[in-house]
Amino acid sequence: MILVLCKCVLGGGAAFSSPAKFGGLGGSGLKQWMIFGAGQAGRALYKLLHSGKSPVIAFADSNPSLWGKTWDGVPILPLEEAVRRRPSGIFLGIINRESCREVGGQLRRAGYDGPLYQVSQLQNRFHIRLATLRLMAEELESRAVPGALAELGVYQGEFAGEINRLLPDRKLYLFDTFEGFHQRDVEKERAENHSQAQQGDFSDTSVETVLGRMPHPEQVVLRKGRFPETARGLEERFALVSLDADLYLPMYEGLSYFYPRLNPGGYLLLHDYNSAQYQGAGQAARRYCEENGIYLTPLCDIHGAAVLVKDGKR
Ligand SMILES: C[S@@+](CC[C@H](N)C(=O)[O-])C[C@H]1O[C@@H](n2cnc3c(N)ncnc32)[C@H](O)[C@@H]1O
Repeated sequence: MILVLCKCVLGGGAAFSSPAKFGGLGGSGLKQWMIFGAGQAGRALYKLLHSGKSPVIAFADSNPSLWGKTWDGVPILPLEEAVRRRPSGIFLGIINRESCREVGGQLRRAGYDGPLYQVSQLQNRFHIRLATLRLMAEELESRAVPGALAELGVYQGEFAGEINRLLPDRKLYLFDTFEGFHQRDVEKERAENHSQAQQGDFSDTSVETVLGRMPHPEQVVLRKGRFPETARGLEERFALVSLDADLYLPMYEGLSYFYPRLNPGGYLLLHDYNSAQYQGAGQAARRYCEENGIYLTPLCDIHGAAVLVKDGKR
């Protein structure tokens, strides 16, 4: 990995390095990375960074109950011990900026003087899902693939707004409870140990918030309530669908509903296929693909997205 480093001090005494130029994950010279934080963000980072040439040699974590355990064979260590292993660079798998500063300070005080990177810096660089969406939109237009657009799992409409902006001439169906996760879906998560999701997570949104975010609201059809009940009576074919409902049940039901209704050459973009936080999303996709003899392409983005292309002739 070729990293052009520009050091900046973000308060709290911790100097963070900016990976100003990524030349791929190979690059010259052996690098040995360490990740602080063995939770969701840290594991997502691991999937992006870990390679034969530039391995992640350890996680550091401040939670003593994790010390001595491993993730994908990589040890989870207390901070001081991690520093003693002299990594070439440490990535902070922590979302909260204040905690990042604190941990950065602790690492410096423990004697680490190498580069420190924050997950948010990588998140911007690896916004692959959005970049992929732009290319998909171009493909659909240039191949004149007919059909409407949809997103299941809209929340505040960030990604949906982008779909609406990129393909302004198509109808966009937005499916969400707009009240967060539904009790029935959460019960399944618990029963099958897919995630720690809680009823009502992602409820801080509204139909008005979402509509206000759409550049072309006249194209938007909102279907409020629990999917798949909200799809009843809809007679539509699709060119592009984003499935981002996080949980096993709606992701499986989303695939079962939308994949047969995709026009040939159309795309299904799945969020969380390789997520450590929402493992049910990937399990739902694997089950659906296996049952139907279809194959997807995983994307190397921070949330572990994946793409399905509908084949066949029109
Ligand atoms: C991670 S958020 C979506 C994020 C959004 N795609 C974005 O890019 O900002 C997941 C959403 O899925 C919705 N959801 C989960 N299960 C659902 C179901 N069965 N029916 C409708 N919406 C559901 C939740 O209400 C939540 O808003």
